[in-house]
Amino acid sequence: MPRSPEIVQFGAEHLDAAAELLAARQRRLRQRRPELPAAYEHAAACRPLIAALLEKGGAHGVMALHGSRPAGYLLGYPRPEPIWGRACWSPIEGSALADGEDPETIRDLYAGWSEHFVRTGHYRQYVHASPDDPELTAAWVLTGFGQMQAYAIRDLDLSAAEPAGFGVRRAVLDDIEILEPLLPLIAHALMRPPAYAISFPEEIPTFRDSWAEELEEPGARHFLAERDGRALAMASFYDAEPGPMVPQGAWELAVAMTLPEERGRGLMRALLVTAFAEARRSGATHCETDWRTAALPTHRSWTALGFRPTHYRMHRHIDERIAWAAPR
Ligand SMILES: CC(C)(COP(=O)(O)OP(=O)(O)OC[C@H]1O[C@@H](n2cnc3c(N)ncnc32)[C@H](O)[C@@H]1OP(=O)(O)O)[C@@H](O)C(=O)NCCC(=O)NCCS
Repeated sequence: MPRSPEIVQFGAEHLDAAAELLAARQRRLRQRRPELPAAYEHAAACRPLIAALLEKGGAHGVMALHGSRPAGYLLGYPRPEPIWGRACWSPIEGSALADGEDPETIRDLYAGWSEHFVRTGHYRQYVHASPDDPELTAAWVLTGFGQMQAYAIRDLDLSAAEPAGFGVRRAVLDDIEILEPLLPLIAHALMRPPAYAISFPEEIPTFRDSWAEELEEPGARHFLAERDGRALAMASFYDAEPGPMVPQGAWELAVAMTLPEERGRGLMRALLVTAFAEARRSGATHCETDWRTAALPTHRSWTALGFRPTHYRMHRHIDERIAWAAPR
């Protein structure tokens, strides 16, 4: 019978070992996804990511050891925000297993890690895993986690027919009036079945003011499709946050919306083609985006547009009654 690893609390003394584990995972993933950044194949690039996680308020982690040999780690932090509830998160850099390690080890790690967060009332739990690590993903599913959000990338080589009946240009502050009908569309799409992802209704009237600021944000690039002075669709891009799943210099597609009656006519494809040409000129090679996998038109659109997931956020909501039901 294979020996289960020993699970110990993660501390600063484990940072070097965890960085080596994360770098090893990046080497494995890059065999399947060579577009992922090579820099994170080296522990020196991984260590600051893990150290930053450990420094977050309330951070908690566990390390799996076979004797003195590191087999894996799982590290995360509490994120109590109104929209998420009293939640704990482990981002994609928050876990990795050693080369050849049995994926079951992630379940041993999760048992130790989650115990701490359940004890402190964090019943909503979020972890991340790559579809290019299917056995690891299966181990999370086996433990009660389901897919929630896809994080995906694609190259910038996209084409579309010449826009017919609409024009594409950059959006500016003066467009706020015509953009207004587009602003609640993401919130509305997220709330539809079977996604049921809430947005607070009282926040929707604040969108206009926050978008007026966003349109002036120096790092933002907003592209607009219009016909006869009417905004039909918009896509907004920013520089992507660097990380192991983000090709260097990638653009992030953060916001995208098309009027419901104009969907499926190629507007978003046309916006992406224009934006991608500009991204290429600025030296980027890829674009990243993310979406709720249960938002059906959204999932199907991004998949049709060639975005391929690098990792998924996975979610488990533990029954709160465990607080009083479990024997002490
Ligand atoms: C996602 C969204 C922006 C797509 O915009 P769109 O203008 O309809 O996209 P396009 O017409 O350019 O279609 C793009 C591709 O997706 C496919 N597609 C679009 N809607 C689809 C659907 N409901 N089912 C299956 N495929 C669909 C199209 O066939 C097209 O594929 P092709 O280019 O290979 O022919 C739009 O559905 C939307 O505004 N949704 C609500 C807001 C939202 O969820 N935004 C994303 C936030 S992450």
